Amino acid sequence: MRGVLDIPEDLIELQGRIADSLVEVERVFGEQLASDLLPVDAMCAHVERYRGKMLRPTLVMLCGAVADPDGEFGSRAHVIAGAVCEMVHMATLVHDDVLDEAEIRRRGKTLNELRGNEAAVILGDYLIASAYALCSSLESPVPSRIVGNASAVMCTGELLQLHNRENLSLDEGTYFEILERKTAALIGASCELGALCSLGFGRGDDPVVGALRAYGRSMGVAFQIQDDVLDLTGTEEVVGKSVGKDLEKGKLTYPVIHHLGALGGERRGQSLGWIRSIAGGDASATGRLLEAIRSTGSIEAARVRAGSLVDEAKRSLDMVGENAGSSMLRVLADAVVRRDH
Ligand code: IPE
Ligand code: IPE
Ligand code: MG
Ligand code: MG
Repeated sequence: MRGVLDIPEDLIELQGRIADSLVEVERVFGEQLASDLLPVDAMCAHVERYRGKMLRPTLVMLCGAVADPDGEFGSRAHVIAGAVCEMVHMATLVHDDVLDEAEIRRRGKTLNELRGNEAAVILGDYLIASAYALCSSLESPVPSRIVGNASAVMCTGELLQLHNRENLSLDEGTYFEILERKTAALIGASCELGALCSLGFGRGDDPVVGALRAYGRSMGVAFQIQDDVLDLTGTEEVVGKSVGKDLEKGKLTYPVIHHLGALGGERRGQSLGWIRSIAGGDASATGRLLEAIRSTGSIEAARVRAGSLVDEAKRSLDMVGENAGSSMLRVLADAVVRRDH
Protein backbone atom coordinates (compact mmCIF):
# COMPACT_ATOMS: atom_id res chain seq x y z
CA MET A 1 0.00 0.00 0.00
CA ARG A 2 1.88 2.99 -1.31
CA GLY A 3 3.18 5.58 1.12
CA VAL A 4 1.60 3.95 4.16
CA LEU A 5 3.66 0.91 5.09
CA ASP A 6 6.56 0.65 7.45
CA ILE A 7 8.10 -2.58 6.19
CA PRO A 8 10.20 -4.95 8.37
CA GLU A 9 13.56 -5.92 6.82
CA ASP A 10 12.58 -9.52 6.00
CA LEU A 11 9.65 -8.35 3.87
CA ILE A 12 11.55 -5.84 1.72
CA GLU A 13 12.13 -8.36 -1.06
CA LEU A 14 8.41 -9.15 -1.23
CA GLN A 15 7.60 -5.43 -1.24
CA GLY A 16 9.88 -5.00 -4.27
CA ARG A 17 8.11 -7.78 -6.14
CA ILE A 18 4.72 -6.26 -5.30
CA ALA A 19 5.93 -2.88 -6.59
CA ASP A 20 7.01 -4.53 -9.86
CA SER A 21 3.63 -6.15 -10.33
CA LEU A 22 1.84 -2.87 -9.58
CA VAL A 23 3.77 -1.30 -12.47
CA GLU A 24 2.26 -4.02 -14.66
CA VAL A 25 -1.19 -3.30 -13.22
CA GLU A 26 -0.80 0.36 -14.16
CA ARG A 27 0.27 -0.59 -17.67
CA VAL A 28 -2.77 -2.83 -18.22
CA PHE A 29 -5.01 -0.19 -16.62
CA GLY A 30 -3.77 2.43 -19.09
CA GLU A 31 -3.98 0.10 -22.09
CA GLN A 32 -7.57 -0.82 -21.31
CA LEU A 33 -8.67 2.81 -21.04
CA ALA A 34 -6.89 4.05 -24.18
CA SER A 35 -9.44 5.32 -26.69
CA ASP A 36 -9.24 6.79 -30.18
CA LEU A 37 -10.65 10.11 -28.94
CA LEU A 38 -8.39 12.83 -27.57
CA PRO A 39 -10.88 14.33 -25.08
CA VAL A 40 -11.55 10.89 -23.57
CA ASP A 41 -7.83 10.19 -23.32
CA ALA A 42 -7.29 13.53 -21.60
CA MET A 43 -9.77 12.62 -18.86
CA CYS A 44 -8.32 9.12 -18.47
CA ALA A 45 -4.84 10.64 -18.26
CA HIS A 46 -6.05 12.71 -15.31
CA VAL A 47 -7.34 9.58 -13.56
CA GLU A 48 -4.06 7.77 -14.25
CA ARG A 49 -1.80 10.64 -13.17
CA TYR A 50 -3.15 10.79 -9.63
CA ARG A 51 -2.53 7.35 -8.17
CA GLY A 52 -3.76 6.40 -4.73
CA LYS A 53 -2.46 3.77 -2.35
CA MET A 54 -3.27 0.90 -4.74
CA LEU A 55 -4.62 -1.10 -1.77
CA ARG A 56 -6.86 -3.40 -3.82
CA PRO A 57 -4.28 -4.55 -6.41
CA THR A 58 -1.77 -4.94 -3.56
CA LEU A 59 -4.22 -7.29 -1.86
CA VAL A 60 -4.72 -9.25 -5.09
CA MET A 61 -0.96 -9.86 -5.23
CA LEU A 62 -0.48 -10.63 -1.54
CA CYS A 63 -3.42 -13.03 -1.40
CA GLY A 64 -2.08 -14.58 -4.59
CA ALA A 65 1.25 -15.10 -2.80
CA VAL A 66 -0.45 -16.66 0.24
CA ALA A 67 -2.47 -19.09 -1.88
CA ASP A 68 0.47 -20.19 -4.05
CA PRO A 69 2.57 -23.03 -2.62
CA ASP A 70 5.79 -21.24 -3.68
CA GLY A 71 4.60 -17.75 -2.73
CA GLU A 72 4.47 -16.74 -6.39
CA PHE A 73 2.12 -14.13 -7.85
CA GLY A 74 2.10 -11.56 -10.62
CA SER A 75 0.81 -13.82 -13.42
CA ARG A 76 -1.28 -12.30 -16.23
CA ALA A 77 -4.42 -13.23 -14.27
CA HIS A 78 -3.19 -11.48 -11.08
CA VAL A 79 -2.30 -8.36 -13.05
CA ILE A 80 -5.66 -8.25 -14.83
CA ALA A 81 -7.57 -8.89 -11.58
CA GLY A 82 -5.56 -6.13 -9.86
CA ALA A 83 -6.30 -3.65 -12.66
CA VAL A 84 -9.99 -4.60 -12.64
CA CYS A 85 -10.33 -4.03 -8.88
CA GLU A 86 -8.51 -0.70 -9.07
CA MET A 87 -10.69 0.39 -12.01
CA VAL A 88 -13.95 -0.47 -10.23
CA HIS A 89 -12.64 1.37 -7.17
CA MET A 90 -11.68 4.37 -9.32
CA ALA A 91 -15.14 4.43 -10.91
CA THR A 92 -16.76 4.55 -7.47
CA LEU A 93 -14.46 7.40 -6.40
CA VAL A 94 -15.26 9.45 -9.52
CA HIS A 95 -18.98 8.98 -8.84
CA ASP A 96 -18.57 9.49 -5.09
CA ASP A 97 -16.91 12.86 -5.68
CA VAL A 98 -19.95 13.94 -7.68
CA LEU A 99 -22.27 12.93 -4.81
CA ASP A 100 -20.05 14.63 -2.22
CA GLU A 101 -19.39 17.71 -4.41
CA ALA A 102 -15.72 17.13 -3.55
CA GLU A 103 -13.05 19.36 -5.06
CA ILE A 104 -9.86 17.45 -4.19
CA ARG A 105 -8.90 13.78 -4.63
CA ARG A 106 -5.41 12.27 -4.46
CA ARG A 107 -3.91 15.75 -4.13
CA GLY A 108 -5.36 16.89 -7.44
CA LYS A 109 -8.63 18.40 -8.61
CA THR A 110 -11.57 16.02 -8.95
CA LEU A 111 -13.05 15.41 -12.37
CA ASN A 112 -16.34 17.02 -11.37
CA GLU A 113 -14.40 20.12 -10.36
CA LEU A 114 -12.44 20.17 -13.63
CA ARG A 115 -15.06 19.04 -16.16
CA GLY A 116 -18.40 19.17 -14.38
CA ASN A 117 -20.76 16.51 -13.05
CA GLU A 118 -21.98 15.30 -16.44
CA ALA A 119 -18.51 14.36 -17.65
CA ALA A 120 -17.62 12.79 -14.30
CA VAL A 121 -20.73 10.59 -14.29
CA ILE A 122 -20.02 9.30 -17.78
CA LEU A 123 -16.31 8.83 -17.09
CA GLY A 124 -17.24 6.74 -14.04
CA ASP A 125 -19.46 4.65 -16.32
CA TYR A 126 -16.60 4.35 -18.81
CA LEU A 127 -14.32 3.09 -16.03
CA ILE A 128 -16.76 0.50 -14.76
CA ALA A 129 -17.65 -0.73 -18.26
CA SER A 130 -13.94 -0.98 -19.09
CA ALA A 131 -13.32 -2.93 -15.88
CA TYR A 132 -15.89 -5.58 -16.90
CA ALA A 133 -14.54 -5.74 -20.44
CA LEU A 134 -11.05 -6.33 -19.02
CA CYS A 135 -12.28 -8.89 -16.52
CA SER A 136 -14.04 -10.86 -19.25
CA SER A 137 -10.66 -11.36 -20.95
CA LEU A 138 -9.86 -13.91 -18.23
CA GLU A 139 -10.64 -17.44 -19.33
CA SER A 140 -13.26 -18.11 -16.65
CA PRO A 141 -16.59 -16.34 -15.94
CA VAL A 142 -15.93 -16.71 -12.18
CA PRO A 143 -13.94 -13.47 -11.68
CA SER A 144 -16.52 -11.47 -13.66
CA ARG A 145 -19.23 -12.87 -11.38
CA ILE A 146 -17.25 -11.96 -8.25
CA VAL A 147 -16.52 -8.43 -9.48
CA GLY A 148 -20.11 -7.95 -10.70
CA ASN A 149 -21.56 -9.10 -7.37
CA ALA A 150 -19.17 -6.97 -5.32
CA SER A 151 -19.97 -3.89 -7.45
CA ALA A 152 -23.71 -4.46 -7.07
CA VAL A 153 -23.31 -4.82 -3.29
CA MET A 154 -21.27 -1.60 -3.26
CA CYS A 155 -24.11 0.24 -4.99
CA THR A 156 -26.62 -1.07 -2.44
CA GLY A 157 -24.33 0.26 0.32
CA GLU A 158 -24.16 3.68 -1.30
CA LEU A 159 -27.95 3.66 -1.73
CA LEU A 160 -28.48 2.69 1.92
CA GLN A 161 -26.16 5.53 2.90
CA LEU A 162 -28.09 7.99 0.73
CA HIS A 163 -31.36 6.74 2.19
CA ASN A 164 -29.99 7.58 5.66
CA ARG A 165 -28.74 11.07 4.85
CA GLU A 166 -29.69 13.45 7.62
CA ASN A 167 -30.99 10.55 9.70
CA LEU A 168 -29.68 11.78 13.03
CA SER A 169 -30.78 8.62 14.79
CA LEU A 170 -28.74 6.33 12.50
CA ASP A 171 -27.83 3.28 14.58
CA GLU A 172 -24.52 1.45 14.73
CA GLY A 173 -25.97 -1.66 13.05
CA THR A 174 -27.03 0.26 9.93
CA TYR A 175 -23.71 2.13 9.87
CA PHE A 176 -21.81 -1.17 9.79
CA GLU A 177 -24.17 -2.57 7.16
CA ILE A 178 -23.27 0.43 4.96
CA LEU A 179 -19.53 -0.10 5.50
CA GLU A 180 -19.65 -3.83 4.82
CA ARG A 181 -21.35 -3.11 1.52
CA LYS A 182 -19.83 0.10 0.19
CA THR A 183 -16.20 -0.65 1.15
CA ALA A 184 -15.57 -4.13 2.53
CA ALA A 185 -17.26 -6.05 -0.31
CA LEU A 186 -14.75 -4.91 -2.95
CA ILE A 187 -11.76 -5.27 -0.61
CA GLY A 188 -12.90 -8.82 0.26
CA ALA A 189 -13.40 -9.57 -3.44
CA SER A 190 -9.86 -8.33 -4.21
CA CYS A 191 -8.48 -10.85 -1.70
CA GLU A 192 -10.68 -13.64 -3.03
CA LEU A 193 -9.66 -12.94 -6.63
CA GLY A 194 -5.96 -12.89 -5.77
CA ALA A 195 -6.26 -16.33 -4.16
CA LEU A 196 -8.30 -17.76 -7.06
CA CYS A 197 -5.77 -16.47 -9.63
CA SER A 198 -3.19 -18.67 -7.87
CA LEU A 199 -5.31 -21.72 -7.04
CA GLY A 200 -7.50 -21.83 -10.17
CA PHE A 201 -10.93 -20.26 -10.63
CA GLY A 202 -12.73 -23.53 -9.84
CA ARG A 203 -11.38 -23.55 -6.26
CA GLY A 204 -13.91 -21.16 -4.72
CA ASP A 205 -14.68 -23.66 -1.92
CA ASP A 206 -11.07 -23.81 -0.75
CA PRO A 207 -10.87 -22.71 2.91
CA VAL A 208 -7.85 -20.51 2.09
CA VAL A 209 -10.03 -18.49 -0.29
CA GLY A 210 -12.71 -18.08 2.40
CA ALA A 211 -10.10 -17.07 5.01
CA LEU A 212 -8.56 -14.43 2.76
CA ARG A 213 -11.97 -13.04 1.80
CA ALA A 214 -12.89 -12.84 5.52
CA TYR A 215 -9.58 -11.06 6.20
CA GLY A 216 -10.43 -8.51 3.47
CA ARG A 217 -13.95 -7.91 4.72
CA SER A 218 -12.92 -7.27 8.34
CA MET A 219 -10.00 -5.09 7.36
CA GLY A 220 -12.20 -3.28 4.83
CA VAL A 221 -14.62 -2.21 7.56
CA ALA A 222 -11.68 -1.06 9.73
CA PHE A 223 -10.32 0.81 6.71
CA GLN A 224 -13.57 2.73 6.26
CA ILE A 225 -13.84 3.56 10.00
CA GLN A 226 -10.37 5.11 9.76
CA ASP A 227 -11.42 6.95 6.60
CA ASP A 228 -14.41 8.33 8.50
CA VAL A 229 -12.15 9.42 11.39
CA LEU A 230 -9.84 11.19 8.90
CA ASP A 231 -12.82 12.96 7.32
CA LEU A 232 -13.50 14.48 10.75
CA THR A 233 -10.01 15.05 12.12
CA GLY A 234 -7.73 15.25 9.07
CA THR A 235 -6.68 18.16 6.90
CA GLU A 236 -6.98 18.31 3.13
CA GLU A 237 -3.17 18.72 2.83
CA VAL A 238 -2.40 15.50 4.69
CA VAL A 239 -5.37 13.35 3.68
CA GLY A 240 -5.04 14.52 0.05
CA LYS A 241 -8.78 14.79 -0.53
CA SER A 242 -11.64 17.05 0.51
CA VAL A 243 -12.46 16.49 4.20
CA GLY A 244 -15.50 17.30 6.33
CA LYS A 245 -17.78 15.98 3.59
CA ASP A 246 -19.57 13.39 5.73
CA LEU A 247 -21.12 15.95 8.09
CA GLU A 248 -21.68 18.42 5.26
CA LYS A 249 -23.71 15.75 3.47
CA GLY A 250 -25.57 14.68 6.61
CA LYS A 251 -23.78 11.30 6.83
CA LEU A 252 -23.33 10.13 10.40
CA THR A 253 -20.18 8.08 11.00
CA TYR A 254 -18.91 6.03 13.93
CA PRO A 255 -17.45 8.85 16.05
CA VAL A 256 -20.64 10.91 15.69
CA ILE A 257 -22.94 7.95 16.42
CA HIS A 258 -20.83 7.06 19.47
CA HIS A 259 -20.82 10.67 20.62
CA LEU A 260 -24.60 11.04 20.41
CA GLY A 261 -25.05 7.71 22.19
CA ALA A 262 -22.81 8.87 25.04
CA LEU A 263 -24.82 12.02 25.69
CA GLY A 264 -28.22 12.80 27.08
CA GLY A 265 -30.31 15.90 27.65
CA GLU A 266 -29.03 19.34 26.87
CA ARG A 267 -25.58 18.45 25.56
CA ARG A 268 -27.08 15.95 23.15
CA GLY A 269 -29.51 18.59 21.92
CA GLN A 270 -26.64 21.02 21.43
CA SER A 271 -24.61 18.51 19.36
CA LEU A 272 -27.68 17.62 17.28
CA GLY A 273 -28.20 21.32 16.60
CA TRP A 274 -24.61 21.69 15.40
CA ILE A 275 -24.91 18.60 13.19
CA ARG A 276 -28.12 19.99 11.66
CA SER A 277 -26.60 23.37 10.93
CA ILE A 278 -23.44 21.85 9.37
CA ALA A 279 -25.62 19.64 7.14
CA GLY A 280 -27.64 22.76 6.31
CA GLY A 281 -24.56 24.48 4.91
CA ASP A 282 -23.31 26.47 7.92
CA ALA A 283 -19.92 25.02 8.83
CA SER A 284 -19.23 27.50 11.64
CA ALA A 285 -20.01 24.96 14.41
CA THR A 286 -17.58 22.33 13.07
CA GLY A 287 -14.81 23.15 15.56
CA ARG A 288 -17.16 23.11 18.56
CA LEU A 289 -18.74 19.82 17.45
CA LEU A 290 -15.34 18.18 16.97
CA GLU A 291 -14.30 19.32 20.43
CA ALA A 292 -17.49 17.81 21.86
CA ILE A 293 -16.87 14.57 19.93
CA ARG A 294 -13.39 14.36 21.42
CA SER A 295 -14.72 15.12 24.90
CA THR A 296 -16.82 11.94 24.88
CA GLY A 297 -13.80 9.88 23.76
CA SER A 298 -15.56 9.10 20.49
CA ILE A 299 -12.50 9.38 18.18
CA GLU A 300 -10.65 7.00 20.48
CA ALA A 301 -13.69 4.68 20.55
CA ALA A 302 -13.64 4.57 16.73
CA ARG A 303 -9.93 3.67 16.80
CA VAL A 304 -10.57 0.91 19.33
CA ARG A 305 -13.40 -0.50 17.21
CA ALA A 306 -11.25 -0.39 14.06
CA GLY A 307 -8.43 -2.02 16.03
CA SER A 308 -10.63 -4.94 17.08
CA LEU A 309 -11.67 -5.46 13.44
CA VAL A 310 -7.99 -5.50 12.49
CA ASP A 311 -7.43 -8.20 15.13
CA GLU A 312 -10.37 -10.13 13.69
CA ALA A 313 -8.85 -9.79 10.20
CA LYS A 314 -5.51 -11.10 11.46
CA ARG A 315 -7.21 -14.05 13.19
CA SER A 316 -8.73 -15.03 9.84
CA LEU A 317 -5.15 -15.58 8.65
CA ASP A 318 -4.39 -18.16 11.36
CA MET A 319 -5.34 -21.05 9.09
CA VAL A 320 -3.27 -19.95 6.06
CA GLY A 321 0.06 -20.52 7.81
CA GLU A 322 3.12 -18.36 8.32
CA ASN A 323 4.76 -17.04 5.19
CA ALA A 324 5.97 -13.74 3.78
CA GLY A 325 2.58 -13.03 2.19
CA SER A 326 0.59 -13.57 5.39
CA SER A 327 3.13 -11.54 7.42
CA MET A 328 2.72 -8.67 4.98
CA LEU A 329 -1.09 -8.92 5.21
CA ARG A 330 -0.73 -8.50 9.00
CA VAL A 331 1.52 -5.46 8.55
CA LEU A 332 -1.00 -4.04 6.08
CA ALA A 333 -3.93 -4.58 8.46
CA ASP A 334 -2.11 -2.67 11.22
CA ALA A 335 -1.24 0.14 8.80
CA VAL A 336 -4.89 0.59 7.84
CA VAL A 337 -5.81 2.02 11.23
CA ARG A 338 -2.59 3.98 11.73
CA ARG A 339 -2.63 5.76 8.39
CA ASP A 340 -3.14 9.50 8.08
CA HIS A 341 -4.17 9.48 4.41
C1 IPE B 1 -11.09 5.76 -0.57
O1 IPE B 1 -10.35 4.61 -0.80
C2 IPE B 1 -12.52 5.40 -0.44
C3 IPE B 1 -12.77 4.46 0.65
C4 IPE B 1 -13.22 3.27 0.44
C5 IPE B 1 -12.54 4.88 2.02
P1 IPE B 1 -8.76 4.61 -0.75
O2 IPE B 1 -8.32 5.31 0.53
O3 IPE B 1 -8.27 3.24 -0.98
O4 IPE B 1 -8.40 5.56 -1.97
P2 IPE B 1 -7.07 5.67 -2.82
O5 IPE B 1 -7.21 4.68 -3.93
O6 IPE B 1 -5.89 5.39 -1.94
O7 IPE B 1 -7.09 7.09 -3.33
C1 IPE C 1 -17.25 6.18 -0.25
O1 IPE C 1 -16.85 6.54 1.00
C2 IPE C 1 -16.23 5.32 -0.85
C3 IPE C 1 -16.81 4.20 -1.56
C4 IPE C 1 -16.72 3.01 -1.10
C5 IPE C 1 -17.48 4.44 -2.84
P1 IPE C 1 -16.32 7.98 1.26
O2 IPE C 1 -17.25 9.01 0.71
O3 IPE C 1 -15.98 8.09 2.70
O4 IPE C 1 -14.97 8.01 0.40
P2 IPE C 1 -14.01 9.26 0.34
O5 IPE C 1 -13.72 9.64 1.76
O6 IPE C 1 -14.70 10.33 -0.41
O7 IPE C 1 -12.78 8.73 -0.35
MG1 MG D 1 -16.68 10.69 -0.46
MG1 MG E 1 -14.54 9.33 3.46
